Amino acid sequence: MDSRERITRAFSDASSTSDFDRLGEHLWRPIGASTVELSAPQEGELVLDACCGNGASALPAARRVGPGGHVDAVDLAAPLLADLERQADGLENITSAVADVTSWGRSGYDVVQCVLGIFFFSDMTAGTEHLVKRLRPGGRAAVTIWRRGSMEASGRHLAQAIAGVTGQEFPSRPRHLLDEVNTSETFGPWLADRGLRDVEVTESELRLSLSESLAWLVITGSGFAGMLTGLSEDETERVRQEYLASLQGAGAAELDATTLIGVGWA
Ligand SMILES: C[S@@+](CC[C@H](N)C(=O)[O-])C[C@H]1O[C@@H](n2cnc3c(N)ncnc32)[C@H](O)[C@@H]1O
Repeated sequence: MDSRERITRAFSDASSTSDFDRLGEHLWRPIGASTVELSAPQEGELVLDACCGNGASALPAARRVGPGGHVDAVDLAAPLLADLERQADGLENITSAVADVTSWGRSGYDVVQCVLGIFFFSDMTAGTEHLVKRLRPGGRAAVTIWRRGSMEASGRHLAQAIAGVTGQEFPSRPRHLLDEVNTSETFGPWLADRGLRDVEVTESELRLSLSESLAWLVITGSGFAGMLTGLSEDETERVRQEYLASLQGAGAAELDATTLIGVGWA
């Protein structure tokens, strides 16, 4: 499986159990709403929502642009788009498309928004530049990423639990460009280098009290679901128990889901 197939599979799995949608109440919808507040689509505008998931930012954007505007919502995972369409009930100004947005052809958008998506691109720099090029001159982009440290504990404890259950070291996450740009100081200049001007970065604080059910939902309802691929039901249950015990042992009572939202102009 190449990385695009792995991402599609992980998010399709998370969607098919409805866990992506359940996690949306805690993460995707608040983060999507914060992004749309800053991208601020206006009545009549044309919006590209890249990596739209099941619509956490695309649906609020469609409500804002009204009947005279339009939102193109693009994602790799078809089940998430089917869910978006169900939730778009009554909204006629949103079109969803199963596609790799890093080769999306249409341009001339007033707004391009991408929430928690760019770090999945096989080339984060080229993919983000491609999104910026979809804007009309004077259009604006809003790009949301995890702030340094956010969500890290979940991945670390999960990897340890998988290693404990399978007896095989889970390969540590290779360093990623995201690790270099995930601070307020570094994200703005990086976006400016992608072709945006007057970039402003907002830290959007989100801290959630970490119940056992939320701690596991963070895994099964997100891209972390991909780490469980290939495990049997019994192994998955043992991983769940080890992961929760490991989090508890570390006294992790809070989930830091803080994001950085960068907004800039073409
Ligand atoms: C963490 S989810 C965020 C979804 C949504 N923006 C939200 O905040 O609820 C990341 C999404 O990016 C999508 N994705 C990753 N790479 C993509 C690509 N190259 N083209 C389109 N979608 C992509 C995944 O399928 C997944 O739905």
